[in-house]
Amino acid sequence: MARPEKRMKHDRDELPSLRNFPISSLRDVAQFDRSFPSFRLPEEIGTFSLSQLPGSQSKRQYHDDCRALKPLRRRGKGTLVSNISLNLDHGFHSWIRRVKEKGYSEHIDHLLEWILHHPQNFLLFKHKINLVCWRGKLHELMTTPYSQSDRWNNGWIICVCKIDGILYLSSFENDAAAAKRLGQSQQDSKFEYWGFKFEQYMTTDPADREVLKEPVTNFDGFHSVLYSKLGETGILFGGEMDCFDPNLDPKTTSAPATYVELKTSRLLSTDNQRRQFCSQKLLKFWAQSFVAGVPTIVIGFRNDQGNVSQTEELRTQDISKIVKSSGEPWSPAVCVNFLNDFLTFVRRTAVEEYDKAVYRFVWCPGWEKVEFHEEAPDSKWKFIPDWYIRSRPG
Ligand code: A3P
Ligand code: MG
Ligand code: MG
Repeated sequence: MARPEKRMKHDRDELPSLRNFPISSLRDVAQFDRSFPSFRLPEEIGTFSLSQLPGSQSKRQYHDDCRALKPLRRRGKGTLVSNISLNLDHGFHSWIRRVKEKGYSEHIDHLLEWILHHPQNFLLFKHKINLVCWRGKLHELMTTPYSQSDRWNNGWIICVCKIDGILYLSSFENDAAAAKRLGQSQQDSKFEYWGFKFEQYMTTDPADREVLKEPVTNFDGFHSVLYSKLGETGILFGGEMDCFDPNLDPKTTSAPATYVELKTSRLLSTDNQRRQFCSQKLLKFWAQSFVAGVPTIVIGFRNDQGNVSQTEELRTQDISKIVKSSGEPWSPAVCVNFLNDFLTFVRRTAVEEYDKAVYRFVWCPGWEKVEFHEEAPDSKWKFIPDWYIRSRPG
C-alpha cells in the first residue's frame, strides 16, 4: 500500500479563510472600525547605518554601527517654539541627492544584510517571526483605507517571497509613481530638500555654523531593527530614525522610545488648512511613528519660501485626541485593523516557498479590492538576492 503523502503544514491551515481582500468594498471604511487588535509595543533588536556608496548616485553602503544616529537639538524651551528663523532653502543647489538608477532598487537588501551580520540574534526571534519588511510598508498599508480618493496617492505594488516559512515583503514602483518621479518640478524637489535640510538644522548645534554650511545629503540614515506582533503576525521590520532625544535617561527609557521623528509642514493660517492638516498630514505622521513605537514628533512649520518660524513637539499618542477634536476624520482602529486583515490575507495567500512562486499584491486609489497574482519565482518580481538565499541563517 502506498504511504500517505506527507502534508506540508501551511500558515493558511491556521488562518481564517479569505478568497479576496477585503471581503466587502474597500470604500466601506466602517468594516475596519472594530476594536483595536492586539499590538505588541515594538522592541529594538538591532541597529545599522547607511551612507553613500562611493562613486554611486543611487546606491548606499551598510555599516554595522550607529554612525548616522544624531541627537535632537531643540530650539528654545517648551513644546511650541515661535520666533525662530530657519531657511530650509539654503544650500538647495549643493544637495547631494540620491537618484533612482534604471533597473536598480535596493528593496530590503540592507535589512537582509543586518540579518547576515547578526545570525544569532535573528535565530533567537526566527520562531516568532512571520514577516520581514521595512516600516514604510506597514504605515503605507495602514493609511490605505483613507487613500481611496487621495489624488496624490500612487497606490502600491507589494511583492512577497516566502523563505523557510517566513514572508519577506517589498514594494515595486508602479506607473503612477514612476510618472510622478519623472515629472517632478523644481518646486517638488524643493519640498523634498526642505525636509532633509530641516533634519540637518534639528540635529546640529546652532552654534556649529560650519556643519550647517555642509551640503545636505539624503544618502545617510540610521536604522532601527524592531520586533513587534500585530494580532497573530510576528514582524521583524527596519525603520529609519531621524534622531534621538538626548534629554531622556537611557537607563530608564530604551529605544525605540528614545527616538524622535522630524517633519515639515506648511504654516496653518486658515480653518481649511487646519482641517487638511488633521485629516491628511497627521494621519501619516501618526501611522509612521505609532507602528515603530516612536513617541515624539517635532514639526517645523514653514512658509511658501521654506522659512520655518515655529516648531511644535507632538506626542504620537495625543494625535488621535487632536484629530477627534477636529471632527474625527480618521480612526487609528481602522488603520490597524486594515493592516492586520491585509497581513492575514497575505499569509493565507502566499503559501509556496521562494523557489516555487513570488506573490504580487496590487492596489490603486478607487479600487474596491486588492488584486493578487502568483508569479514565477525567477520573474521580474523576484527581489530577494541570491546571496541571501545562499547564506541565510538557520
Ligand atoms: P518631510 O516629511 O518633513 O517633508 P521622513 O520624514 O520619513 O524622515 O522623511 C524625510 C524627508 O524625506 C521628508 O521630509 C521629505 O522631504 C522626504 N520624503 C520622504 N518621503 C517622501 C515621498 N514619498 N516623496 C517625496 N519626499 C519624501
Ligand atoms: Mg526619516
Ligand atoms: Mg522625518
